[in-house]
Amino acid sequence: MKFAIPATVLSLFAFANAASVLPRQAGFCPEASRFGILGVKPTNLSPGDKFTITANFTCGINQYNIVPKYIDYYIEVPENVNNGHEPPILLARRTFSKSHGDVDKFTTHLPDAFYFTGAAYTVQMDITYAINGTLGKPFYVVGGTEAGVNITDPNSI
Ligand SMILES: *[C@@H]1O[C@H](CO)[C@@H](O)[C@H](O)[C@H]1NC(C)=O
Ligand SMILES: *[C@@H]1O[C@H](CO)[C@@H](O)[C@H](O)[C@H]1NC(C)=O
Ligand SMILES: *[C@@H]1O[C@H](CO)[C@@H](O)[C@H](O)[C@H]1NC(C)=O
Repeated sequence: MKFAIPATVLSLFAFANAASVLPRQAGFCPEASRFGILGVKPTNLSPGDKFTITANFTCGINQYNIVPKYIDYYIEVPENVNNGHEPPILLARRTFSKSHGDVDKFTTHLPDAFYFTGAAYTVQMDITYAINGTLGKPFYVVGGTEAGVNITDPNSI
């Protein structure tokens, strides 16, 4: 029994080990990154404002074999917020080409649409991608992710 190590010490050791290993894993990809990692800059916007969208598909492509074919970007009100009847506002519809790299980056303007002041809005990104059917033929499905933005509209409703 001289060499017995209390379990708590062992688990502390395991924890310290895991903690020191994790940050060093190059390109660690959480599951939430499978449809892309979406960035919006700046996030405080008024109609007409210019902003930049960056979507990084490295994780989705390399870890999950999710390669976008089309990418649709919208301004949306999250479900169950406001009156629930506001249609998504299209920002851009783009075609993905692996030859341009894993990142889709572009600048756009906030459409002069109708916005509620103080409401939560998101930039929603939907990607259409192929998966292989049971007979090996591809078919297309849609997945998405979002990023929050604040919209201030001087003519808000
Ligand atoms: C895209 O994401 C990957 C993995 O997280 C990262 O290594 C890479 O630097 C990112 N690329 C850009 C252009 O931000
Ligand atoms: C579908 O099958 C093809 C041919 O086997 C393969 O190259 C491709 O990576 C597969 N696509 C997916 C999304 O699994
Ligand atoms: C939106 O505005 C609120 C209040 O100013 C702030 O706390 C929040 O971080 C902002 N959200 C974004 C995505 O900029």
